Amino acid sequence: MLYIGTDLGTSSVKLILMNEKGEILNTVTEEYPLSFPNPGWSEQDPEQWYSQTIVGLKKLLNGFDKSSVAAISFGGQMHGLVALDGENRVIRPAILWNDGRTGEETDHLNEDPGKAALHRYTGNIAFAGFTAPKILWLRKHEPENFARIEKIMLPKDYLCYRLTGEFSTDVSDAAGMLLLDVKNRKWSQEMLDICGIKESCLPALHESSEEAGVLSPAIADELGLPRNIKVAAGAGDNAAAAVGTGVVGDGMCNISLGTSGTIFIPSSVFREDPGDALHSFCDSAGAWHFLGCMLSAASCNKWWSEEIIGTDDYPSLQKPIQALGENHVFFLPYLMGERSPWNDPNARGVFTGITMDTTRCDMTQAVLEGVAFGVRDMYEAAKKAGISISRSRLCGGGARSPLWRRIIANVLNLTLEIPLTEQGPSMGAAMLAMVCAGEYGSVEEAVNAIVKISDTVEPEASLVEKYDERYEQFRKLYPAMKDVFNL
Ligand code: XUL
Repeated sequence: MLYIGTDLGTSSVKLILMNEKGEILNTVTEEYPLSFPNPGWSEQDPEQWYSQTIVGLKKLLNGFDKSSVAAISFGGQMHGLVALDGENRVIRPAILWNDGRTGEETDHLNEDPGKAALHRYTGNIAFAGFTAPKILWLRKHEPENFARIEKIMLPKDYLCYRLTGEFSTDVSDAAGMLLLDVKNRKWSQEMLDICGIKESCLPALHESSEEAGVLSPAIADELGLPRNIKVAAGAGDNAAAAVGTGVVGDGMCNISLGTSGTIFIPSSVFREDPGDALHSFCDSAGAWHFLGCMLSAASCNKWWSEEIIGTDDYPSLQKPIQALGENHVFFLPYLMGERSPWNDPNARGVFTGITMDTTRCDMTQAVLEGVAFGVRDMYEAAKKAGISISRSRLCGGGARSPLWRRIIANVLNLTLEIPLTEQGPSMGAAMLAMVCAGEYGSVEEAVNAIVKISDTVEPEASLVEKYDERYEQFRKLYPAMKDVFNL
């Protein structure tokens, strides 16, 4: 049988076609625009997600036996606010996970009802970018739009709605709304009251591999697929990536270097971060995880290489980098503000230490290192919260660079395992579809049968020492700059 995984990302939708053994038969990527209507804002048109997904599905299936497709599922960018009116039309562009307009609403929630109450209701504090502060922003700044809301959903759930007609979400993605009682995997009435919305506005809650519905007959016919293909609820992209990289169960970790940079640490018991740097969310296998999220990771390197230097030949740009651990330039990777650990939408990107002899090579290296130090900030927060790990998987576009892998292994002093395929979320989504269709009895079973590691990167003692020293300097920079960001 064949399975389709869909990763609704920030710059593109990535589709994957897999057979039941987990062999990838085809992949397709379709891009769509991202708009920044004001500094720090980030929006997208949900209709483009849908239309580009349909374009991609047609290409994905071209030349394959469509009658063998058994199920489809999703991973998707988290936290985005998609609001529909009484006729199920999109009210305004979706406000995305990396949108920083909700600073005031976030601070307000953390003061009233306050962090302790938010922990009790949801297991988390408010972060700019979570969905609940966006709802409050809409209520204050666009009351006419707020009054029209009949349905609120997350990006991948809009896709699911268009493909099936069902309003559904899954617990891993719902956890990022700050509307879910994460420990008990149900909506929090307290948070609904705070946001002024009714439970009927929210989608039905599922576990990730549960069936949300079936492909609608019109879409099945348009794509030439059999009727009644199962559609599994899917997962937030990080939870889906954890499935695709085999990070299920205690003692494991996945680091993703995509547009965002994340650290995902599963836990069979529900736990909260006393330091409030990490999120406590549900995972896709019936358990929970700690998630740290940097808002700009591989996107920093893309910005630097493509927008500033003017090349997309990353290997050539990185080739002259030799002196690891010895750079005099630091880069703060806060191009869209920062979530973990600072929760500061006003933070901005900075180069420090530049002198007359600074080269392009030093600055390119500083960008790669700055992102690695940001990941280390999240890892340090996890250690403080009691997590102990010695290795991590690494996925996402950034994992393609052997140099960046080496920098990260040494900055974190962790062994990194590189999965055979870097397509974590779309692969995880296809695996959730397999579990939904009964091909595997559980997510763990699918992971054990399918996920393979292609490479391992070990930390090197001399570089670990150098990077430890540089990290000690890096960690002083944000506190020193914080006030400047707020000028
Ligand atoms: C996680 C987060 C990002 C997005 C990116 O909390 O906001 O990783 O999901 O797609």
